[in-house]
Order: sequence, then C-alpha cells, then structure tokens
Amino acid sequence: MNILLLGSGGREHAMARNIAESPNCTKLFIAPGNAGTALLPKSQNVDINPTNFPAVRDFISQQQITMLVVGPEAPLVEGITDYMAQEPSMSDVMVIGPSQQGAQLEGSKDFAKHFMQQHNIPTAAYKTFTADTLNDGIAFLHTLKAPYVLKADGLAAGKGVLILDNLAEAEQELKNMLQGKFGAASTKVVIEEYLSGVELSVFVLTDGKHYQILPTAKDYKRIGEGDTGLNTGGMGSISPVHFADKQFMQKVEERIVIPTIKGLHDDKISYKGFIFIGLMAVMDDKGERNPYVIEYNVRMGDPETESVFPRIKSDMVELFKRTWLGRLNQATLDIDPRTAACVMMVAGGYPEHYEKGHVITGLDKVEGSIVFHAGTKLDADGQVVTNGGRVLCVTSLADSMPSALLKSYQELSKIQWEDRYYRRDVGQDLLKMMI
Ligand code: AMP
Ligand code: GLY
Repeated sequence: MNILLLGSGGREHAMARNIAESPNCTKLFIAPGNAGTALLPKSQNVDINPTNFPAVRDFISQQQITMLVVGPEAPLVEGITDYMAQEPSMSDVMVIGPSQQGAQLEGSKDFAKHFMQQHNIPTAAYKTFTADTLNDGIAFLHTLKAPYVLKADGLAAGKGVLILDNLAEAEQELKNMLQGKFGAASTKVVIEEYLSGVELSVFVLTDGKHYQILPTAKDYKRIGEGDTGLNTGGMGSISPVHFADKQFMQKVEERIVIPTIKGLHDDKISYKGFIFIGLMAVMDDKGERNPYVIEYNVRMGDPETESVFPRIKSDMVELFKRTWLGRLNQATLDIDPRTAACVMMVAGGYPEHYEKGHVITGLDKVEGSIVFHAGTKLDADGQVVTNGGRVLCVTSLADSMPSALLKSYQELSKIQWEDRYYRRDVGQDLLKMMI
C-alpha cells in the first residue's frame, strides 16, 4: 500500500525506516521529511505542511494513499483525524493518530489532569486557575511546599512548564502566565504538587480498546551535561530503562495503561494511535518505585523514537493496520532485547540562536550504527546541510548500555560540521543507578 507520514524530525526518520522496511509498504511519502527520509528505500519527500489539511487530502487522493501516519502533535491537536473522517473520499484512509478530543490529552493540561482524576490514574495533586481566579491560585500556592510547578494549559512549544524554588517568584510567574506570558496557551494555568523521582517514558499503541506496550525509554532534555541549562527538544535517549523491570511495568500497566484506555473508551473518545506517557518513578517508604503520570503526549517522543523504533522488529505497517481495524489484541510484538543508545548532535547555540546551512561531512563513514536526520536538508548541489537546532542523532544497539553508548560516541565523532555540540553524558545517570 501507499503510505503518507507527516513530520520532518528524527522521530519521523525513525518511523519511516520501520515503515519502509515493511513488505506491506509499496511507496512511502514523507511530508515534508528531511535529507534522511529522502534517502530511504521506497521513500520520497513531499513539500506539504502537515497542518494544511486540504493539501494533505488532495495528495492522498492523487497518490492513492491508504494509510496516513501522523508524527507530530500539531495536526492531531488541530483535528486532522476528524477532518479525514468527515471528508467523503477519505473515510477509508487508515489514519494513525487520535481524534481531536483524544489529542486534548496533550493539547490541554487541564483536560489531561481532569481525565486522570476521573479515572483514578496516579498523578500529582493539582488545581487549575484563570485570570478571574488569580487570588485563589496564589492561596493554593501557599498550601504547597517548594518547588512550585506551574503549567500553561495549552501547547507552548515545550516551554510552558515552570518549576520555581521561591514562593514570591511563583506568585509573580502565575500572574505573568495568566496575563499572557505564553499567549492563549496560558489563559489557564495548572498548579501542581512537585514529584521527586526519576523520569521515564512509556509508549502505548492503542486501537481505542486494546493496546500494546512498546519499549520504554529515557530522554535527556537539558542542553548541558549533568542535566543543567535550558530545556531542549531532547539531547539523547536510552531504551530500555533498566529500572522499569517486570514488577514496575506491571504497576504501570495496572495503574496507568489499563485505566487510561478504559477511560478513553468509557468517555467515548475515539483513539487509534500512540500514547506517550511521561512518568515519574517515585520511591515510597519501603524503597519501592511507584509510577505517577507527569504528562500525556498523543504521539511518539523525539528522541525516544530513535531508540525505541530500532528495537521493534515486528512489521509496523501490520501493527498500524490492526490498530485501524480494532484488532491490536491479535498482534504480537517482537522486540530486540539489546539496548539502544541515541545521542543527538545539535547546532552550536541551540536551543537559543544557532546557524543553519553548514555542510555535514563524514556521514558515509558511519558503520554499524544508524544516523537519524532531524534538522537537515539537501542543498542545490545535493550536499547534506544543517537546517535546524537538533541536526541529527546516532543510535547504536548493543548487548549492554555501556557498549551501545561507546559505539554511538565512536561513530558520531566521524560526523563533522562547523560548530556542532552534543552531550557527552547521555546514559550516565542510569549507569550510576545500576552500580
Ligand atoms: P511536561 O511538559 O508536563 O512534561 O513538564 C516538563 C518537565 O517538567 C517534565 O519532564 C518534568 O521534568 C518536569 N515536571 C513536570 N511536572 C512535574 C511535577 N509535578 N513534579 C516534578 N517535575 C515535574
Ligand atoms: N522527548 C520529549 C518529547 O518528545 O516530548
């Protein structure tokens, strides 16, 4: 079948690689894609903006596409799944991605927190405030202990969460947010209890009734080593996360995954796609780790996909087909037991000001690891040049995490461009926990 994948990041390159490998895939189009997706077998980039729904629809009919896979959250939150279902000629297209209502799990923190509360899913205690209830918000802050967690309700390009040590600062930021610090995204602000623990990401593919739990991963969000400095889209990832053992994952499944899927079903929210559950593993008095939901996302993570998808050996298109047909219970997942280590290489200056257009060399020298492109493009001479902050990442699979990391760092040293940067400590926190 012909398939269209929306998106242009490392996540989409990793998804495209699995999709293109499927015998069910005749031709894969990626809109808009990057220099990496352009070079995959059976694949072609198309210059369409994923939120231009009429353009996506027209391309689907022209190219006889039967499956549409949505990579990023924006088209989902803007309702691409509902749009396709309502277009007369599109209703048979297998769309992998939740309805607009389902996408509210990511599009509105207030919606997500309310959903968790309704369905008894463990999460931090919270309250939501608007400009009209600012004083109640300040009073609520006084009932909490530092650090204070303030979250813009809507999508704020990953910047909408503030964690503040000082009460006066938290009060001021609450005012700033309600006065439009993040535009319409902070018309409502969620204030929640601070959870202390280790974060990890759990990924679920669901058809709205049944589900398959995909491999776990941990990402590295800050720009600086030792988790310091500004937040980024993600500087690397490791899969699996060693402490998410059978016992911990049983808690995740029973306390979080099952009630989430049942909640969606009971609330009549149509959902055929990925759920990315950001978890905090909090240690209890008995020294046992318990999972709490920090956030839901309605898509795969980036750069988690770049370590999770290379471990999925099952036919991804077959899994998507079963998702669409409501038969995910009949699927089996074949997972590579090795550890995947992904290290992201970024443009100097990212996540603040950085340059684009530098020629990347050494890509052809990489052996035995996978290079996933994120912010790259082919220039007029056919050279691969930088075209974003997160430029590309190197993923290696090995029998142990140290070996996988060593291999990724060895291979990435062959890739050069002017003013490149990467964190040298990806995975080090997990290695320390393992000792
Ligand atoms: P979010 O966008 O909700 O994932 O929040 C961004 C980051 O803020 C998370 O990855 C956590 O590191 C941190 N965070 C969010 N909520 C909490 C919380 N309740 N307690 C501690 N850290 C949090
Ligand atoms: N890696 C975090 C995210 O994709 O939101």
